[in-house]
Amino acid sequence: MSLARTNLAILGLQWGDEGKGKVVDLLSPKFRQVVRFQGGNNAGHTVVVDGVSIALHQVPSGALHPGCFLVVGNGVVLNLEVFQQELDRLKARGFDLTGRLMLSEKAHIILPHHIALDQWREIRADKVGAKIGTTGRGIGPAYEMKAARMGIRLGDLRHPEALAARIAPGYEEVQIRLGQDSPLPSLQAIVDGLLKTAEPFLQFIGDTQSHLIEAWGRGDSILFEGAQATLLDIDHGTYPFVTSSNCSLGGLFTGTGLPPKAVGQILGIAKAYTTRVGAGPFPAELLDATGDRIREVGREFGTTTGRPRRCGWFDAPITAHACRTNGVDGLAIMKLDVLDGMEDVGLIVGYRTGEGTVTTKLPSCASEWRDIQPVVKTFKGWDSTRGITDHRNLPSQAQAYLESLAESVEVPITYLSTGPDRAEGCIYPGTFLEPLLG
Ligand code: GDP
Ligand code: IMO
Ligand code: MG
Repeated sequence: MSLARTNLAILGLQWGDEGKGKVVDLLSPKFRQVVRFQGGNNAGHTVVVDGVSIALHQVPSGALHPGCFLVVGNGVVLNLEVFQQELDRLKARGFDLTGRLMLSEKAHIILPHHIALDQWREIRADKVGAKIGTTGRGIGPAYEMKAARMGIRLGDLRHPEALAARIAPGYEEVQIRLGQDSPLPSLQAIVDGLLKTAEPFLQFIGDTQSHLIEAWGRGDSILFEGAQATLLDIDHGTYPFVTSSNCSLGGLFTGTGLPPKAVGQILGIAKAYTTRVGAGPFPAELLDATGDRIREVGREFGTTTGRPRRCGWFDAPITAHACRTNGVDGLAIMKLDVLDGMEDVGLIVGYRTGEGTVTTKLPSCASEWRDIQPVVKTFKGWDSTRGITDHRNLPSQAQAYLESLAESVEVPITYLSTGPDRAEGCIYPGTFLEPLLG
């Protein structure tokens, strides 16, 4: 076995929407297998080709490259109805995935009562000011059912006669919580709906762990596409304002069944500023005209829910935490062009605590986040970086900003994105990305 060490993991380093989709699409032609390993249709990964954008939620972002085989690993939770819509949209655009898609038989299915529970819980939590601001897609309940051993996996679809009995315990628990008057479909309607939706997917269901181990063994290069990001990780993020999966590197191994040796390099994706959608700690947040400007220029509205994203300066302590958690080898810094034309650009280098000391350590508990204030280093702004493809042509102020940014997280920049299109960006010479993108 050749056991290639060229496999690459792409992980978000902030609160999601860093531009993972663009980077995966860009790198995909150099990889044979592109793999999603956690999350579900809470993810929205945008790929822009010739000015037209395509949003992918569960289909790996290598979809637009016919040479890529797409794998959805066991750690993912799937909404099959949404998956079908994605396949249909891709087909209409000329991308047929037949023969190059495999879904893990161990991946869990998001069912209508999971979605109902997610939404019911958020409405109740909102009344006491404890809303998480989930995407309302049933992600949390689907992972809960998995942990409670009441989940339904794709492999269960091969035994339709047993489905009602398998779904019933989880369904009944949700029914008790929501009350008899809740507008849940009947258990039989859920089973019938699932069987109908699942029919076209039966051909894609398989043993993705063996598929990947064999692919790795024959020397296929593998690209792992993270969804969400480290600050949304259920263990390492800003709990409880997180998603329900491990979005950091650990989730890759449990979510595929591959061992750590299967990953060669880790590319961390971060925007040149910070955004977050949903509730929870966000020390960088700018609740002023600057925040509004970043939102408008960066089109910071959710790919999945359309909600406005909260915006602020690049937060070095949170990004450094994400780099350490994942052992990031190189950074891809995205959307630098969004900061073009600003008089000043800020970089959060630490936090001032309630006692007045400065720290770069992240609080571990949501209430402690309230006591810290960001310490901002200010840089002079620059005119334009849009579409620049050689970092040596960047305005000197942008170069100074990026140098400090990389120093503050102690990881080198390997790629800089200067616009949404594939062609808009710079590969840093001498970095591990150069042979892949150069
Ligand atoms: P993901 O969830 O990490 O894949 O990111 P999203 O797709 O949700 O959000 C990133 C958005 O920024 C998408 O609309 C991308 O097309 C866009 N984008 C990516 N890179 C750049 C860039 O360098 N400049 C600008 N202006 N937009 C970008
Ligand atoms: P991508 O892959 C940004 C956020 C939600 C909410 C929290 C929990 O596009 O970066 P959930 O529905 O997962 O239970 O919601 O997580 N969230 C995301 N924010 N990008 C995402 O994915 C997200 N997926 C979930 O807004 O705050
Ligand atoms: Mg997104």
